[in-house]
Amino acid sequence: MSGADTPVIETRALRKVYAEGTEAEVVALHGVDLRIARGEFIAIMGPSGSGKSTLMNLIGCLDTPTSGQYLCDGIDVATLDREELAALRRDKIGFVFQGFNLLPRMSAEDNVAMPLGYAQVPPAERRRMAQEALAAVGLGGRTHHRPSELSGGQQQRVAIARALINRPPILLADEPTGALDSKTGEEILALFKRLRDEDHTVVLITHDAEVAAHADRTCVMRDGELHEEERP
Ligand SMILES: Nc1ncnc2c1ncn2[C@@H]1O[C@H](COP(=O)(O)OP(=O)(O)O)[C@@H](O)[C@H]1O
Ligand SMILES: [Mg+2]
Repeated sequence: MSGADTPVIETRALRKVYAEGTEAEVVALHGVDLRIARGEFIAIMGPSGSGKSTLMNLIGCLDTPTSGQYLCDGIDVATLDREELAALRRDKIGFVFQGFNLLPRMSAEDNVAMPLGYAQVPPAERRRMAQEALAAVGLGGRTHHRPSELSGGQQQRVAIARALINRPPILLADEPTGALDSKTGEEILALFKRLRDEDHTVVLITHDAEVAAHADRTCVMRDGELHEEERP
């Protein structure tokens, strides 16, 4: 079970092989051992093709490893069935992507409320929770705007509010500042630091060393191997 000392993310010899046994075989992860504590802000760097997204997909329970183990908040995800895995993903993990991935015809409020089950959460409560989440990312006055009426940085904050609506302990962000200018990117990074201070675990994937420098700790992927980066 999860407790104060249980890493919120722990992988043991995690290995991922695509197209195994064919000529197109790619070993994308070569036995990755990673431990991340609750309340840590960690960056994972590495060049294109080094396995960052593969690792993110495994940590996010969007894909399964070829071998090795992944414990999410102390739970061995290999022991879960489809439904349990979907519930774990909903309760434990929020996703943020480079391209924001908002629905263009929906207001900020409706985008943020998306991950709330329709059956479980009545409309008034959905609205209240979405408004609260938007206020928490500094967008309290923009709840009825559509994505096209918001700047890139504002759209990414809507996406972060959506990722946090179910109050998951883990936030996984794959190149979240990649589509933003550097000043707006810094605002998003400041928001991640605030979330870290509120006990969220933030895993930030980036190829940009300046972005990674905002994290407490950096790991570097090279050809499917993960190395801890020494800081001066
Ligand atoms: N679905 C897939 N099928 C086959 N090969 C893949 C697949 N996804 C990624 N790869 C390969 O795995 C390696 C790691 O890819 P990826 O995890 O996307 O790296 P990164 O996110 O660091 O750019 C690359 O060689 C890539 O071509
Ligand atoms: Mg990638």
